[in-house]
Amino acid sequence: MMKITVVILAAGQGTRMHSNTPKVLHLLAGQPLIRYSLKAAAGVGTEMPVVVVGHGSEQVRQVVGEDARFVLQEPQLGTGHAVRATEFLLDGKTDLVLVISADMPLLSGATLRHMVSIQQDNPGPITMLTILSDDSHGFGRLIRAVDGSVCEIVEEAHATPEQLAIRELNVGAYCFKASWLWDALKRVPLSPKGEYYLTDTVGLAVADGLPVQAFALEDSAEALGINTRVHLAEAESILHQRINKKHMLAGVTLMDPNSIYIQADVTIGQDTVIWPNTYLRGATNIGEGCTIGPDTIIEDTQIGNACTILASVLEGARVEDHVGMGPFCHLRKGAHLAQDVHMGNFGEVKDSYLGPGTKMGHFSYIGNAHIESDVNIGAGTITCNFDGVNKNPTEIGAHAFIGSDTMLVAPVKIGEGAHTGAGSVVTHDVPPHDLVVGVPARHLRKTEKSD
Ligand code: UD1
Ligand code: CA
Repeated sequence: MMKITVVILAAGQGTRMHSNTPKVLHLLAGQPLIRYSLKAAAGVGTEMPVVVVGHGSEQVRQVVGEDARFVLQEPQLGTGHAVRATEFLLDGKTDLVLVISADMPLLSGATLRHMVSIQQDNPGPITMLTILSDDSHGFGRLIRAVDGSVCEIVEEAHATPEQLAIRELNVGAYCFKASWLWDALKRVPLSPKGEYYLTDTVGLAVADGLPVQAFALEDSAEALGINTRVHLAEAESILHQRINKKHMLAGVTLMDPNSIYIQADVTIGQDTVIWPNTYLRGATNIGEGCTIGPDTIIEDTQIGNACTILASVLEGARVEDHVGMGPFCHLRKGAHLAQDVHMGNFGEVKDSYLGPGTKMGHFSYIGNAHIESDVNIGAGTITCNFDGVNKNPTEIGAHAFIGSDTMLVAPVKIGEGAHTGAGSVVTHDVPPHDLVVGVPARHLRKTEKSD
């Protein structure tokens, strides 16, 4: 089998971003730019990809982690110099070297596979990608001979007026025959700008009498390179539309898609309806037949089927089937609502389990609590879980009735079927089927068993 290694160039400074963050770590639809290159690489490479790092190398390594090998290019003397830095790792270890830039997040794995398939039929050592465009973007120009064969790439900075008029532009993605590449890179001359241009390998191949294949991208959006935050916004807008379209075609209704932002990894079940001004982020999965929004933010949260979530914020939570919530609920990390839970206005839940059928209709705070099924949590109930030093647990048994404005001073246990009177401050455990009232709450009488 042919060995294919993708080399991702990510050492440049990205000066025009005007940022303390390395360019390739800027976020696009919630993911660092370099993640997109790694994803495209995974679709074509047979070997672990290699990322050439330089500026901000430590930060880039941290974000990429185990998903690539790294080569440090120091100093950064151009794209040719960057690829040459990988020779010690790749010489003799791969048949093809695919070179892409980490700042081209929309380049697809399919395009890279197409490039490889063309190179496999190419007797010469290079296949490269171009776009046909009137907007030069600062790209290198592809110079062809009268017979249409590729001659060389001329960088914009060094192009003559006639060359500047050429519309076929170098995207900056190449497939090289490795056995030719390493020697060719040694022959690349120093440019007047003091850099070694990878693009000069094209002219060198032609001078060697070897043909170079160039093919134009059908969707020129794929060639969008991120050099400024304006480009980043353009890419964001393209991805935003692509992601929304994908969900709509798969059976999700988006009311006013322009105001709905869904990050790349989010999954949504069929017949779910999303209302305007809603943000779905991170590792979020939403089931079928839900109604989400308007005005809702959901991050890193799992939601079952047939849930209704109105004007709420959910982070790091889990919501089972048939849960109704909102308006103005806040689920924080570790909130777990079992099926048929109802949560009305102004509720906050953190690190807590609410059992099936439990209802919490109006402004309550539940933290570090385990609440069994069919509990009624009266308006204004608060788990006083923090004593200034520790977070303490609250436990509430099934069918308990917590009266309005109850303060549950944790650690505290409310037994099954127990009741608390309105306004009570519960400082001691309440046995099952007891009714307690007052400040602090004291025993009043037994409650009637519900069965
Ligand atoms: C390059 C091409 C140009 C092409 C354009 C497309 C060259 C000489 N020119 O120009 O023909 O039209 O891309 O976007 O290749 N990098 C390193 N080390 C370096 C220099 C750059 O890793 O020493 C990385 C950058 O981080 C970036 C990529 O290589 O990811 C491209 O470098 P950049 O400086 O943006 O090249 P362009 O001037 O855009
Ligand atoms: Ca660039």
